[in-house]
Amino acid sequence: MSEPATVLPFLIRPLLGVSLLMAASCGGEEPAAEGSVVAEAAAPTVEVDLDALEGFPPLATTFPGPDGPASAELVELGRALFQSTGLSADGSVSCASCHDPDEGGDDGRALSVGPGGATSRRNAPSLWNVASYATFGWDGRAATLEGFTALHLLDDWATGFADEEALVGAAGGERSLAEIAAALGAYQRTLVRRSRWDRFLGGEPSALGDPERRGFNSFLEAGCAMCHTGPSFGGDDFQQLGMAEEWPDLEDSGRMLVTGDSSDEGMFRTAPLRGLYETAPYGHAGQYPDLGEMVRLMAQHQLGVELSPQETADIVTWLNSL
Ligand code: HEC
Ligand code: HEC
Repeated sequence: MSEPATVLPFLIRPLLGVSLLMAASCGGEEPAAEGSVVAEAAAPTVEVDLDALEGFPPLATTFPGPDGPASAELVELGRALFQSTGLSADGSVSCASCHDPDEGGDDGRALSVGPGGATSRRNAPSLWNVASYATFGWDGRAATLEGFTALHLLDDWATGFADEEALVGAAGGERSLAEIAAALGAYQRTLVRRSRWDRFLGGEPSALGDPERRGFNSFLEAGCAMCHTGPSFGGDDFQQLGMAEEWPDLEDSGRMLVTGDSSDEGMFRTAPLRGLYETAPYGHAGQYPDLGEMVRLMAQHQLGVELSPQETADIVTWLNSL
């Protein structure tokens, strides 16, 4: 699944015993052109703990579905369905209205607005790299992308359909709910997007500058990686909101709404952290317009750590490279 080129730097690392920083300065980079300040400023000097990188394996390049790789036809059908307002009862919204891949994969709102002005309880997540997660929805309502999509197609606030029959009829009556969800799943699995972080992991040290390196180090030092790990820095497990200090104004019971188990009250999926630079506002109800504020609250309420304004700003700069 992973590309050899991406893995290689880590395999050879113990042999070489050098840091990515050294690789950056001895890597035979082009000397700065005379009078160029840009190239000079780009050479990073802050070291990154390479052992810590093992918690963040590279993002896979492809995400086959439950039945293996999808055909091009199925992906195309999924793309067409994703863009179609026919998948809402009053023909007013499509999946793309709330998850526009050209606008960061979300709708830029705190809460979404569906057919007839219905409002969602939660913030619409970006669908970029969605196939890399192990559980779906803020409360992990489904364990597969197709399973989540099938449930979501019948969310009255999202599509407005009263039941499965109404949805299947609106989609032409030829495909079952599971088949529609499979096509939409196949398309969503193609929404894979790489970032500068991936270039860094792939052995390109200069892909991250000093503020970003400082930000990553602060992220590790604060303990954020206790929860946010893996190729997408989350999307894989559930955590209590307010581990260290009660989360402010928490109104949503989170995972308890799925399991009915009172010990899941206030548990939410560890949010994935890729592409946040274009998915404001933040939090499950989009309560926080500012990414720095979200980072500061995470440190305080999840870890009992007070970040300095500089540390917060560096973490935000690093997050923006993901
Ligand atoms: C009216 C806005 C709206 C529409 C239309 C909509 N969604 Fe969503 N979507 C949301 C919201 C809000 C959530 C978060 C729900 C939750 O976690 O409780 C969500 C969650 C998701 C997730 C889970 C993502 C993750 O990070 O786990 C997927 C997948 C998804 N939607 C796909 C779709 C598809 C496919 C369609 C079209 C059939 C669609 N959505 C239509 C608002 C919308
Ligand atoms: C104890 C586990 C835990 C720790 C530690 C933790 N987080 Fe989180 N993080 C979560 C959970 C759970 C969510 C989902 C929040 C929600 O549902 O509103 C989240 C959400 C976020 C979000 C919002 C993403 C979005 O799409 O809205 C950001 C940003 C974030 N965390 C950054 C951090 C940073 C930076 C740190 C360290 C200072 C950190 N987190 C520490 C569990 C944790």
